[in-house]
Amino acid sequence: MSSNTEHETVAYAIEDGVAWVKFNRPDKRNAMSPALNRRMMELLDELEFRDDVGVLVLTGEGSAWTAGMDLQEYFRDTEAHGLAGTRKAQRESYGWWRRLRWYQKPTIAMVNGWCFGGGYGPLFACDLAFAAEEAKFGLSEINWGILPGGGASKVAAELLSFRRAMYHAMLGEPIDGRTAAEWGLVNEALPAAALKARVNEVAQALRKKNPVALKATKDAIRRVREMTYDNAEDFLVRAQEAANSYDDGRKEGLKQFLDEKSYKPGLGAYDLSKQRRA
Ligand code: ACO
Repeated sequence: MSSNTEHETVAYAIEDGVAWVKFNRPDKRNAMSPALNRRMMELLDELEFRDDVGVLVLTGEGSAWTAGMDLQEYFRDTEAHGLAGTRKAQRESYGWWRRLRWYQKPTIAMVNGWCFGGGYGPLFACDLAFAAEEAKFGLSEINWGILPGGGASKVAAELLSFRRAMYHAMLGEPIDGRTAAEWGLVNEALPAAALKARVNEVAQALRKKNPVALKATKDAIRRVREMTYDNAEDFLVRAQEAANSYDDGRKEGLKQFLDEKSYKPGLGAYDLSKQRRA
């Protein structure tokens, strides 16, 4: 039995502009229970517009990132409440993953260990992903007799080649962090001891970029995947023009390069501290 209260199912700390959010049910390998899903949504709400949070990192306490949905509490217990129970549990989990997909701040999955099934929802929701080489990823649904639902099939089809997605989903064999990086499920795999430092390095680099441009960029990359070239071209013009109407980043970036010659955009970001904000 897990002794976690609902509040304790997720832990977090804010350090140097980074919110380190942790699945916190290590004794249950951080399986996502309805209580955890509710708390995660609440915490995402609390953190999203805080000035001291520039980047959100999602990681796990103990040996797991998350072992997927809690087979007891998410499936068996909610099913006992009929269709209404099932739909409520789905809304709570899909809800925070959707929220994370379109989060205001850049997000990074730091996959420290086991990542199964439903875990692919938050994995895909994060903009970037870094894994320990020793982490294990798997669509284990087939092993207990269901299809990879809750978006997991979609994540596999989005991130993997057709043949790899089929093999991964049909065989249910776990792969390690190195293979996950080779297959494109994560950006990089690193030795566990080096993982946090690398993720922090990336988070700090993101904090130096214009936050309005970052939000527009991450949304653009997700949106254009499903557009024709012409629709994407049009959407991107309008998205940039909308950003220009409330943020002077573009002007400042041009000024520091063209007039002040204080940086080179090809090699790094302009000095954000000089930009006046509305
Ligand atoms: N749901 C509910 N409980 C879980 C889950 C889960 N997904 N994963 C682990 N637990 C529980 C175990 O039942 C056990 O509880 P207990 O101590 O009360 O008996 C505890 O967590 C520890 O689990 P172990 O299996 O003992 O841990 P171990 O480190 O040996 O193995 C592993 C870890 C490989 C992750 C294993 O627990 C496992 O296979 N879990 C299920 C993974 C899975 O298939 N998840 C569902 C994906 S499909 C979906 O999400 C829709």
